[in-house]
Amino acid sequence: MLGLWRPLLAACLLLQLLLLLPASWCRMPEYNNGFYYHDVTNSNGNGEIYYNGVRLHVESPEPSVSATRGSSVTLPCHFHYEPEVSAPRRTRVKWSWLPANTAAPAAPAAPGAAPAMETEVMVAMGNRHRSYGSFRGRVRLRRSAPGDMSLVINELRLNDTGRYRCEVIDGVEDESVTVELELRGVVFPYFSNRGRYHFNYPRAQQACQDQDATLATFEQLFTAWEEGLDWCNAGWLADGTVQYPITAPRDGCGGSGLAPGIRNYGPRHRLLHRFDAFCFSASIKGTVYFLQNPTRLNFTEAVQACARDFSSVAKVGQLYAAWRLSGLDRCDAGWLADASVRYPITKVRANCGPPEPGVRSYGFPPWHLKFGVYCYR
Ligand SMILES: *[C@@H]1O[C@H](CO)[C@@H](O)[C@H](O)[C@H]1NC(C)=O
Ligand SMILES: *[C@@H]1O[C@H](CO)[C@@H](O)[C@H](O)[C@H]1NC(C)=O
Repeated sequence: MLGLWRPLLAACLLLQLLLLLPASWCRMPEYNNGFYYHDVTNSNGNGEIYYNGVRLHVESPEPSVSATRGSSVTLPCHFHYEPEVSAPRRTRVKWSWLPANTAAPAAPAAPGAAPAMETEVMVAMGNRHRSYGSFRGRVRLRRSAPGDMSLVINELRLNDTGRYRCEVIDGVEDESVTVELELRGVVFPYFSNRGRYHFNYPRAQQACQDQDATLATFEQLFTAWEEGLDWCNAGWLADGTVQYPITAPRDGCGGSGLAPGIRNYGPRHRLLHRFDAFCFSASIKGTVYFLQNPTRLNFTEAVQACARDFSSVAKVGQLYAAWRLSGLDRCDAGWLADASVRYPITKVRANCGPPEPGVRSYGFPPWHLKFGVYCYR
């Protein structure tokens, strides 16, 4: 059965590359790797493949790479043969991706959950290459030396995190290696202006996005917990689970007898169940600043004041990023775009909130109350 499909699939893959057809076009029944090609240069012409003791090795010196939003990153991947081959074989390289936000844990899939699957990032054969989806036009192979198939991603986005697989196929062998991509950033808990536990999963996703952030992954929340995040309200994570980080165990937060850690409610129904959100924000292009203004402002005045200063009211994710990544420190409460009032403290001092650095929050006060404002430009 497989033998019958091979020539068909090879022709199909060639067509796909020439005509720039979608990656799914060549998937065939019985053989859904989507990636085999029959290379005559590696065979003896009778449809049989020589095996001469040469082994293909695919390696990455860095199993995980961290980068900042908006920058370029290189995910290393090299291949070589042992022993070396005199005549180079024709190779095909495929980079694919398991996004962090679909990497559901080993638990059964939550109702309404999308299945976790790898999607294509780039396929390259010789000098031809093709990139897919949100990576189109943003990725290339580095090719700094023979066998260098490292992937360069430009203009990194918040949701580019996840596990990338570099797969090298030469018609005889098929080897791969994975590289984890993380973004440096900050996790913050977020809840609705209508109160606690108002977000189902899609609303939580939207709420983070509205604040220039994305739902945090478990790894991001775990890092934040290691760095001291303690929050006794459960929030959605990108994988559809609901969890919260506790560094100081106490009653009502899993109990005082339980060791510090991430409390996990597991996967929840994405539409019916409501919680807060844990958002992840990374470095921002512009700057967040406290607007110098002679008087305090109500919310409508605050919006206008930033506009007059050729900027806009800062979003919550932008304030957190400025606090965490640029050290913004200001002991003045100010309006933000979601009509919450907050201020960022990096150097702890008297009358500026609790004895740890953090973004202090006044919640969502009535719009007529007067505060300062944080603008973003
Ligand atoms: C990732 O974020 C970009 C905007 O930065 C958005 O256009 C895209 O749809 C997002 N992709 C996914 C898979 O969420
Ligand atoms: C803010 O103050 C202005 C007057 O400067 C007033 O017109 C406006 O209604 C106030 N907005 C709110 C929400 O109270």
